[in-house]
Amino acid sequence: MKEVILELERRRAQAELGGGQRRIDAQHKRGKLTARERIETLLDEGSFEEYDMFKIHRCSDFGMEDAHIPGDGVVTGCGTINGRTVYVFSKDFTVFGGSLSETHAEKITKLQDMALQNRAPIIGIFDAGGARIQEGVAALGGYGEVFWRNVQASGVIPQISVIMGPCAGGDVYSPAMTDFIFMVRDTSYMFVTGPDVVKTVTNETVTAEELGGASVHTVKSSIADGAYDNDIEALLQIRRLVDYLPMNNQAAIPELSVYDDPARIEENLDTLVPDNPNKPYDMRELILKTVDEGDFFEIQESFAGNIITGFGRIEGRSVGIVANQPMVLAGVLDSDASRKAARFVRFCDCFGIPVVTFVDVPGFLPGTAQEYGGLIKHGAKLLFAYAEATVPKITVITRKAYGGAYDVMSSKHIRGDVNYAWPSAEIAVMGAKGATEILYRSELDQSEKIAERTADYEERFANPFVAAERGYIDEVILPHTTRKRLSRALAMLRTKKAEMPWRKHPNIPL
Ligand code: HXC
Repeated sequence: MKEVILELERRRAQAELGGGQRRIDAQHKRGKLTARERIETLLDEGSFEEYDMFKIHRCSDFGMEDAHIPGDGVVTGCGTINGRTVYVFSKDFTVFGGSLSETHAEKITKLQDMALQNRAPIIGIFDAGGARIQEGVAALGGYGEVFWRNVQASGVIPQISVIMGPCAGGDVYSPAMTDFIFMVRDTSYMFVTGPDVVKTVTNETVTAEELGGASVHTVKSSIADGAYDNDIEALLQIRRLVDYLPMNNQAAIPELSVYDDPARIEENLDTLVPDNPNKPYDMRELILKTVDEGDFFEIQESFAGNIITGFGRIEGRSVGIVANQPMVLAGVLDSDASRKAARFVRFCDCFGIPVVTFVDVPGFLPGTAQEYGGLIKHGAKLLFAYAEATVPKITVITRKAYGGAYDVMSSKHIRGDVNYAWPSAEIAVMGAKGATEILYRSELDQSEKIAERTADYEERFANPFVAAERGYIDEVILPHTTRKRLSRALAMLRTKKAEMPWRKHPNIPL
């Protein structure tokens, strides 16, 4: 027996060394943790249960028959984050560059199957060179199996990808089908084809960072939902994110004990909206003063800043927050903002997370750039996402809710459950000046008359009461009571049951 135990220990030690000390040192020198160190940082101490530690590839081409490293370039297993089960796989760059072989793929798909069957989130940590070049089509088949399972699990269990090194070729498409992608600044990059191929095909000269670094994917492409300075910070933030998420689409949303009074009054919200309707203010202040303990996990902070999306808690329970941000482009809805918020609303709806929407929107952004870029379809994504969402939806209009954007931003008409407005709300087809200039075009040369008409229009529509008279607004609330009103509305909506007509799936304007 003793011999066997020693053999087990020897084998474990060998597997834990991955591609060897030299490659581990190289990994550390680049400021990166190893696959196992990452898992240890992510999970509760001592909670990791590893599977398939001794699995090896079956390739016998290109000298691979003599190159076996137990584990085959990916560490897989399950553990807990603050006591709740998650499944995790972590690509080991020290073993064949973390590349995906047929058996490497089998380890991941086994884990995906377990996560789906047992209805717990799965987190993938990527640091890899794509398909195992020596294996050819067997590796491609492996990717296909992983992709298929990503889609099976979508909307059933949360799937999170963390990019902590190179992520090329087949490795980008699995993350792209998960719910969230996070990157590490300066050490991670994602692209379908690398700089060399780009040079050959398009004659462009770019670095890996310029092509697919965190600075690209969090700001320009919106592929990534956030970026952090190093592996440790990234993994600790993923722990924080997981705390907001339910285990699966049928599980209750997490409820944390908090000491923040749900009826907390915030007097200074009464002066948040400036008297001048054209003056911006920071919508983030309203979010931070509303959620429990000012704790807000922002998604896509560096992309489309005219809309804010992220998770907070009210009375200890997760909520998704969508808010126009008057500080950026006056909070206008453009294609990017619409896509960003639509995807977020859909995530919340998949997982039963109530959506709170703060509205201050002057409309959709005019111009050829937007129209040629498909604003109609992108705007429709957000409209569609809100309209199909059956989770509790609570809306607070703080200032402007103009035009089509009024309808889109979780209005009563697309089944907002509780729609509040602050006294400073202006709900109208457009701003008073623009409206007057269209209605009274013939009087445009008479500035006094136009000013009078504008004042009339403002008097009639620049308030929440016309909408409230029709029941489009359930109640005009005092800003300092916003948190209290939201927590009451959320409590009232806990038992909400709304169903959509049967269909295979709706056809969101992609
Ligand atoms: C096998 C690989 C590998 C791969 C890297 N390695 N990529 N082995 N298959 N795909 C090995 C290297 O041989 C090396 O082994 C070790 O990993 C580290 O690689 P380096 O090149 O020394 O590291 P670095 O300079 O940091 O560059 C990392 C890298 C580069 C950018 C990832 O290795 C690279 O460009 N790799 C190829 C990427 C690629 O084109 N993959 C195929 C994509 S096509 P030693 O023994 O020296 O340590 C694809 C199709 C799927 O994925 C499509 C499905 C839809």
